[in-house]
Amino acid sequence: MTEATSGASFEPGMDPSRRTWIAITCGAGAVGGLAVAVPFVSTFAPSERARAAGAPVQVDISTIPPGGKLTVEWRGKPVWIVRRTPEQLATLKTLDPQLADPASIRTQYPTPAYAKNPHRSIKEEFFVGVGICTHLGCSPSEKFQTGPQPSLPDDWAGGFFCPCHGSTFDMAGRVYANKPAPDNLEVPPHMYLSDAVLLIGEDKKA
Ligand code: FES
Repeated sequence: MTEATSGASFEPGMDPSRRTWIAITCGAGAVGGLAVAVPFVSTFAPSERARAAGAPVQVDISTIPPGGKLTVEWRGKPVWIVRRTPEQLATLKTLDPQLADPASIRTQYPTPAYAKNPHRSIKEEFFVGVGICTHLGCSPSEKFQTGPQPSLPDDWAGGFFCPCHGSTFDMAGRVYANKPAPDNLEVPPHMYLSDAVLLIGEDKKA
């Protein structure tokens, strides 16, 4: 399992696969894009056929540094695993008044019960979310750096920005109010097999 991520490098705020997913979601050719993405998780998969049918994906999360993000493919979708810093977690608690659905009550993309909490995750540190905007399906960009920067408010607290129509999401995938995206980012079914291994696509109720 560790082989699957051994070739990836991580830096805070850096996602080496982001360009691939943007290419897919912007219609640059799903077949070509997926062909690039497959090797990223291919050693996790039971088989190509099973994976295409939606087989769960095991992910070694032990190499993700604080403030870093790993992207894997599940059911043809990019799934982000973000290891949040204590500062990022502390900031989440201050954002509720600015968000459209801070408690994840909306049902278009139902949040699993185990992620219906202020950090939207099983473990506070790790956010697991589908990296597809709930507006029209673009892949948001990570904007973990806080503060003023192009296209974002001066008091930006870190999160994700969808370049297609400007929706913004916090570090828990919660959409800001008055944006085109109608819902928070989807949290896929998932569970921990150990401290280091996450299973995406299945949870304890499955
Ligand atoms: S697709 Fe993300 S804002 Fe429209």
